[in-house]
Amino acid sequence: MAHRSAAVHALGIQDGARILDLACGTGINFENLITVNANGWLLGLDYSLGSLEQAQERVKRNRWDKVVLGLGDAAQLPFANNTFDRVLCTYALKAIPLYQQALDEVQRVLKPQGVFVVMDAALSDGMTRFLNPLIRWMARGFFYAIDRPLINEIARRFQDVQTTEYDFGYTVVVVARKE
Ligand SMILES: C[S@@+](CC[C@H](N)C(=O)[O-])C[C@H]1O[C@@H](n2cnc3c(N)ncnc32)[C@H](O)[C@@H]1O
Repeated sequence: MAHRSAAVHALGIQDGARILDLACGTGINFENLITVNANGWLLGLDYSLGSLEQAQERVKRNRWDKVVLGLGDAAQLPFANNTFDRVLCTYALKAIPLYQQALDEVQRVLKPQGVFVVMDAALSDGMTRFLNPLIRWMARGFFYAIDRPLINEIARRFQDVQTTEYDFGYTVVVVARKE
């Protein structure tokens, strides 16, 4: 999907970086991340063992030797302060129950001047907003809290927040920097 590569591009990765793919699921972002960070490290964390097993298959199949997978809770990250150069989180912050704690944790584990990119679903305020009730109903079926004020919550913790909308506003990419 083009938005995924846009989100990875927005990280502004310099090869050799230490990257966290937060709530990585089955590792769908890995290929894009490794393409721009062949000599760096990628840590994929999720709390679903089933998803991580699929991610592990993907890593094995592609012989990516600089990818490490971890089982853990985004709201309680098992990493020291200032560990990562970049953090990516796609389609997860509206699914993580304690998402505000997860944002605090990203702020803690990101290095100063590190970049945080979020891609997530949103509701439209454009011409297609009449579809919002349908989108909200579908999101609820996936335990997805689509109304969460992610951009405000990110802006409370990070600097230089920039947003780009895709799909008539139904997808948003947020780029932010730690002070
Ligand atoms: C919709 S999936 C998105 C996966 C992947 N980032 C993507 O873009 O396809 C949401 C993911 O968030 C993970 N997740 C939800 N709550 C979590 C938490 N507290 N800690 C870690 N992962 C969590 C789920 O296990 C799931 O893999």
